[in-house]
Amino acid sequence: MAARDMTREAALSRLDHKHACHILLYADSQAKLFGKIPVKHIVLMQMRFDGLLGFPGGLVKPSEESLEAGLSRELQEELGASVPVTMDDYVSSHLAQSPPRLILHFYSKKIKEAELLEIERAAVLNAVDHGLEVLGLTRVPLYTLRNGGGLPWFLSHSFISNSRAQLLEALRRLDLMSPQALEEAVKKAEEMRH
Ligand code: GTP
Ligand code: MN
Ligand code: MN
Ligand code: MN
Ligand code: MN
Ligand code: MN
Repeated sequence: MAARDMTREAALSRLDHKHACHILLYADSQAKLFGKIPVKHIVLMQMRFDGLLGFPGGLVKPSEESLEAGLSRELQEELGASVPVTMDDYVSSHLAQSPPRLILHFYSKKIKEAELLEIERAAVLNAVDHGLEVLGLTRVPLYTLRNGGGLPWFLSHSFISNSRAQLLEALRRLDLMSPQALEEAVKKAEEMRH
């Protein structure tokens, strides 16, 4: 476990801490960019009100709701869709660098491509936070074009808290990209930032 990671149990025993839950929703896809580059998987993130990229989700109140119920409530607000989240979808808990006393719980959940498309529509049509706390959903490009377009440029944007690390860790763990392709994209992104 990395330095600020903690177990779910240890996290929930911190009664004086705030808790937030966010989720990576993804689906397999047969779609091809320009009719030839396989998209392979659709991974959802969002452009937040503050101009930073992050995952859907938000603050939960463990004294009033389970982490999963709180996350589902946030998803209803931010995506305008009912996405049932269970303990099976739980990934990790992490003590935020800042602000102090904030614990970040992370989840991931695979859904069907049709469900994901439905969520994208609902996010515009139904979500009470659309255009307010959430400026829009975005997909994460998982390919790298010859000029560095795709994941390297995506990773060059600014991300909230540790959501960039959450994304990279999930892409590796869920095998959504080969370790080698991921490593190359991260390296390219690093070069682009200079
Ligand atoms: P309000 O409804 O305005 O309270 O916002 P919210 O409940 O949706 O909270 P938000 O999603 O902004 O998450 C709360 C805090 O968690 C943020 O202030 C960030 O510090 C952090 N955070 C937000 N998004 C992410 C994310 O995708 N990953 C991680 N690790 N942290 C995040
Ligand atoms: Mn075109
Ligand atoms: Mn919210
Ligand atoms: Mn939120
Ligand atoms: Mn909230
Ligand atoms: Mn809100």
